Amino acid sequence: MNQKNIKFEIKKKLNYLDSKSFANNNLPLSIIQYDTKDVLNSLNTLLRGWPTIGKEVSNVEKKIEKYLKIKNAIMLNSGGSANFLILYLLRSIYAKKKHKLSEGDEILTPAVTWSTTVSPIIQNGLVPVLIDVNLSTYDINVNLIEKSITKKTKAIMVVNPLGHVCDMGKILQLCKKYNLILIEDNCESIGAKFNNKYSGTFGIFSSISMYQSHHISSVEGGMILTDDNYYADILRSIRANGWLREVRNTKTRKNFIKSNPELEESFMFPYIGFNFKPTDMSAALVSNQINKLNKFINKRTFAAKKLINLLKQYEKFLILPSFVNKIKNSWFTFPIVVKPNKKFSKKDLVKFLSDKNIANRPIIAGNIADQPFLKKFKYKKGNLKNSDLVMKNGFFIGLHHKLDNKKINYISRTFDNFFNKITK
Ligand SMILES: Cc1ncc(COP(=O)(O)O)c(C=O)c1O
Repeated sequence: MNQKNIKFEIKKKLNYLDSKSFANNNLPLSIIQYDTKDVLNSLNTLLRGWPTIGKEVSNVEKKIEKYLKIKNAIMLNSGGSANFLILYLLRSIYAKKKHKLSEGDEILTPAVTWSTTVSPIIQNGLVPVLIDVNLSTYDINVNLIEKSITKKTKAIMVVNPLGHVCDMGKILQLCKKYNLILIEDNCESIGAKFNNKYSGTFGIFSSISMYQSHHISSVEGGMILTDDNYYADILRSIRANGWLREVRNTKTRKNFIKSNPELEESFMFPYIGFNFKPTDMSAALVSNQINKLNKFINKRTFAAKKLINLLKQYEKFLILPSFVNKIKNSWFTFPIVVKPNKKFSKKDLVKFLSDKNIANRPIIAGNIADQPFLKKFKYKKGNLKNSDLVMKNGFFIGLHHKLDNKKINYISRTFDNFFNKITK
C-alpha cells in the first residue's frame, strides 16, 4: 500500500472512531487526541527500526521546554512515574543537602487528588498530610496550610487540579517562610497560567501527564520539569536504568569515563536507576499536538465559558467551576458538586445524565482519605469538610476541544429537562 493509501485508511478509521464516540448524542469523557499525521509519525518510528527512547523523545522534550519556558523537561512513561521519581530523587544520595528528605518527613498535599500524587509519598517512606480543598476550583486551601506545618514538614506537593492553578503567590510565600520544597503535580493542567507564568514552572520540580485523556496525549507518558540542571542530568539517567548514555553534561560524562577506564562506555551505569523510559513511538504521537496545544486550550475555554453561562441558572443547586483572577485555566474537565438539598441527590442527577448518554465520573479520585489503599499506611489529615462533599456529591463531565456548540447545547438542554422535572 502506498503512503497516500495508508494516510487515507488511517483518516477513515479515525473519523469512524470519532463518529462512533459521538453517535446518538453520546458525550464521552474524553476523545482521541491524535490525528492522521500523529499516527503516521508514530508508525514511522516503528518502520525506522528505533521505536524506543531516541530522537523523538528529545524533540518532544525540547518543544515542551520552549513552550513552558523551562530549562529541562524529562519525558517518562507516565505522570505517576514522574511524581515517584521526584520524591525518590529527594530521598536519595543524589539530593542536595538542603533538599534531602528523610524517612517520616511530612509532605503537605491536597485531599482531593489522584492516587499517584499520594502513593509516591508513601512509597518513598514519607508521610502525606492531607489538606482540604476549595470548592468550585478544587485546589488546596492555602489558608489551612500554615496550621498543618510541624517540625517534620519538609515539602508541599500541590496539585494544579483540572486545568486550574493553585494560589502560587501565597504558596511561594509559605514555602519561603517555612523553608519548604515546592513540588507541583501539574498532571492535569499543562498550559495553565498564574500571573502569566505557566503552571509547572513554580516548583523546584513538577510533573505533567500525557495520558490518553489529557490535553495532549502520547497514550501513556509524562514528564518531570525542572530548572535545575544538576537534578535533570541525574533524572535523565535514572529513568533509563541509570545509564551513562542519558547523561547529557559532558563534564560529568567525561569524569565517569575517566574514573572507569576498564568499562565499556555504552554499558556503564553510574546511577542507581529504574526503567521508566518513554518510547519514540509515544513521543512521535504527541509531538505535533504540542504545536496545537494553545488552539486546544482556547476551544476548551470557549466550551467551559459557555457551559458555565448556560448552567448558571441552577447555581441554587449546583456548585459550578469558576474563573479566578490572575489564573488562565487550561480546562481539563467540567466539575460539578451538587449542593445538599431536599429535591434530588447526586445519584439522581448522574443517572439522568448517563441515561441521556452524557458520560460522567467522580472528581479525580475524590477524597483520597476514603480510598482503601491509604487506610493501610500512615498519613495525617486536617478537617476535610469540602473534600468529603466532593467525594459524596461531586462528578465531572467531559470537556475537550471537540465540544462544539451543538454538543454544549445538548448538555444544557439535558440539565434543563432534569431541573424541569425535579422543580415541578
Ligand atoms: C493529579 C494527577 N496526578 C498524577 C496523575 C498520573 O498521571 P499518569 O496517568 O500519566 O500516570 C494523574 C492522572 O491523571 C492526575 O490526575
